[in-house]
Amino acid sequence: MIFREAPRERAPARVFLGLGSNLGDRESLLSRARALLAALPGTTLSAQSGLYETAPVGGPDQDDFLNQVVEVRTLLAPRELLAAIHALEAELGRRRAVRWGPRSIDVDILWYDGFRGVDADLEVPHPRLEERRFVLEPLAELAPDLVLHSGRTVTAALGRVQDQAVRRFDGDTDVATRMDKDSPMDHSAVQAEIRRLAREKGAVILAHNYQRPEVQDVADIVGDSLGLSRQAAASDARMIVFCGVHFMAETAAILSPDRPVILPDLNAGCPMANMVDVQGLRTLKAVHPGAIVVSYVNTTAAVKAISDICCTSANAVEIVKSIPADREIIFTPDQNLGSWAAKKAGREMILWPGFCPTHELIDEYDVAAAREAHPRAKLVVHPECVPEVVELADAVESTSGMIRFCCNDSAEEYLIGTELGMLYRLSKDCPGKRYYPVSELSLCPNMKLTTLDKVLAALQNEGPVVTVDADTRQKALQAVQRMIEVGA
Ligand code: 13P
Ligand code: SF4
Repeated sequence: MIFREAPRERAPARVFLGLGSNLGDRESLLSRARALLAALPGTTLSAQSGLYETAPVGGPDQDDFLNQVVEVRTLLAPRELLAAIHALEAELGRRRAVRWGPRSIDVDILWYDGFRGVDADLEVPHPRLEERRFVLEPLAELAPDLVLHSGRTVTAALGRVQDQAVRRFDGDTDVATRMDKDSPMDHSAVQAEIRRLAREKGAVILAHNYQRPEVQDVADIVGDSLGLSRQAAASDARMIVFCGVHFMAETAAILSPDRPVILPDLNAGCPMANMVDVQGLRTLKAVHPGAIVVSYVNTTAAVKAISDICCTSANAVEIVKSIPADREIIFTPDQNLGSWAAKKAGREMILWPGFCPTHELIDEYDVAAAREAHPRAKLVVHPECVPEVVELADAVESTSGMIRFCCNDSAEEYLIGTELGMLYRLSKDCPGKRYYPVSELSLCPNMKLTTLDKVLAALQNEGPVVTVDADTRQKALQAVQRMIEVGA
């Protein structure tokens, strides 16, 4: 999904959402709704109120509701957020049949900073916000001084509805956690449990540079796609938990066939890797029978298996240069990385027309705006960016190359043209400098699917495991090993 409409010029918006459930396992439905909200693109869950129990207002005889208010910070525009909420409600079994009937989950946008809107589907701020104690009571936990559209604060509005029956629900006191909204969520308890379980089970936890900060912080090794797999292969861990996307876990499985490789969320794919398929590549090879196929590691194991050699963004130029000058080269799947490597290596290549949806969104207008805002900053971009952006850059680097470049360079400010997770990595590995994103929209939704809860569940369940069949693995390994030999 491409979120071009999201607000581009500002930091993520602060949004308060009302969650309610009165059908099924209410606590677990609220918990799953929170997890799904936290996994939305460009969105973090920054605070949550305790739980409250309330008798339903109107409609047929039905069970009491369990209610809660959460605060999220999001780059999604209001209507994009609404569409995402409808999808989330459907995933949690909500049927929009009757207006007042029981519901497995109900998520309302109560407040969206700086936005007022009324149409058939969306009215923000929520029109009944000030009439409902079951909304105001939890909202007052998070934002007592927020001034509502009537001009009253939340506390003042709450004073007017004290006669409505609302009970604090203590079924799960852990859930009723109040957080300081200006400080990051406290992840220390779940991180400690993850570390304990990893030790107990002999697991090594790997996290790609684009993972959520709290996931990077709990990992044994943080790095780029291939570096992680190589370090995992060199470790003596009993199992590998790969916080990244599917092709990365497959690459780890290719290099470490004797150990389970666990991907905490199997839905974490890479749309670019899925843009090249075995049948299509076979057809192109048949048209160019003498060509050498160079495939980016961002490919499936099956595509690697019919490729001659792999490359990463860190070594693509070197790999292309290593191909004899009289051989045609087919490069898959990233046409942006391919055209940059072809230019640097001075070679013509047949480029597969794939691209990374996250990097493709960064354009030269983003660069111009970022440079205007930070005129002294150097521009560092990933080679998956479009050529118009790459041409403007002071440095074109893989994710690990960005760290090396910024640490060794004398500038104090950098504009970073890649996935936003990289800014956290840079601030940790190369502190004392300032990093700004070229575009606030540079989020890889798949990378953000991995949450601490999923890492914990992955360790508890020792799954889901990513496997590669022996024949495919053997062939794919040859392509990966040829690359490693060129780099050696
Ligand atoms: P790196 O190999 O530079 O880590 O990049 C992987 C990736 O998916 C970039 O989008
Ligand atoms: Fe794939 Fe792009 Fe996400 Fe990297 S950032 S995993 S290339 S979709």
